[in-house]
Amino acid sequence: MLKSSLLAVIVIIISSTFVFADGNTNVINKKHLDNSLTCKSCHGVDKPSASPGKDTCIECHGEVVKTREINVHDDVKVKVHESHYGEIDCLECHKIHGKGQLMCNQCHKFNIDVK
Ligand code: HEC
Ligand code: HEC
Ligand code: HEC
Ligand code: HEC
Repeated sequence: MLKSSLLAVIVIIISSTFVFADGNTNVINKKHLDNSLTCKSCHGVDKPSASPGKDTCIECHGEVVKTREINVHDDVKVKVHESHYGEIDCLECHKIHGKGQLMCNQCHKFNIDVK
C-alpha cells in the first residue's frame, strides 16, 4: 500500500517534469528529482505560473558555489562562478526547465556545459 502510493507520487513527479522540460529532462532536473525536490521546493506553490527567481537557488545553494577549474583554450582556465564579469544572476546560465546557456558566450566561445 505504502509502496504503491509512493510509486504513484514518483510517476506524477516524473511526468510533470517531462511537460516542463521541452520534452527533455535535463541533468539539473534529474539531480533535483533524485533529491526529492518538488515544484513547491523552488516555486513555493504546487501550481507555479512564474519564475521563482535566483533567491530560491541561494536559499539552498548559498551565494557562492565552488566550481572546478576548466581549461578553455591554450593554458587559460576558468572557474565559471568566478570571473572578471562579477556577479551574474544564476538564471542567466541555469535554465532549470530547458538546456542551460553559458552567458559568457555572448562574447566568448567557451566549450562548457551548463548543468
Ligand atoms: C530547481 C528549481 C525548480 C523546480 C524544482 C521547478 N522549477 Fe519551475 N522554474 C524554475 C525556474 C528557475 C524558472 C524560470 C526559468 C527561466 O526564466 O528561464 C521556472 C519556470 C517555471 C514556469 C514558467 C513560468 C514563466 O515565467 O513562464 C512554470 C510554469 C514552472 N516553472 C512550473 C514548474 C512545475 C510544474 C514544477 C514541478 C514539476 C517546477 N516548475 C519545478 C525553477 C524550478
Ligand atoms: C530545496 C533546495 C534546492 C533548491 C531551491 C535549488 N536546488 Fe539546486 N540542488 C539541490 C540539491 C540537493 C542538489 C544535488 C546536490 C548534489 O547532488 O550534490 C542540487 C543540484 C543542483 C545543481 C547540480 C546539477 C548537477 O547535475 O550536478 C545545479 C546546477 C543546481 N542545483 C542549480 C540550482 C539553481 C540554479 C536553483 C534555483 C533555480 C536551484 N538549484 C534550486 C537543492 C536545491
Ligand atoms: C556564467 C554562468 C553561470 C552562472 C551565472 C551560475 N552558474 Fe552555476 N554553473 C555553471 C556551470 C557551467 C556549471 C558547471 C561547472 C562544471 O562543469 O564543473 C555550474 C555548476 C553549478 C552547480 C554544481 C556545482 C558542482 O557541484 O559541480 C551548482 C549547484 C550551481 N552551479 C549553482 C549556481 C547558483 C546557485 C548560481 C547563482 C548564485 C549559479 N550557479 C550561477 C554556470 C553558471
Ligand atoms: C560582454 C562581453 C563579455 C562577457 C559576457 C564575458 N566576457 Fe570574458 N572577456 C571579455 C573581454 C572584452 C575580454 C578581454 C579581451 C580578451 O582577451 O578576449 C575578456 C577576457 C576574458 C578572459 C581572459 C581572456 C581569454 O579569453 O582567455 C577570460 C578567462 C574570460 N574573459 C572569462 C569569462 C567568463 C568565465 C565569463 C562568464 C562568466 C565572461 N568572461 C563573460 C568580454 C566578456
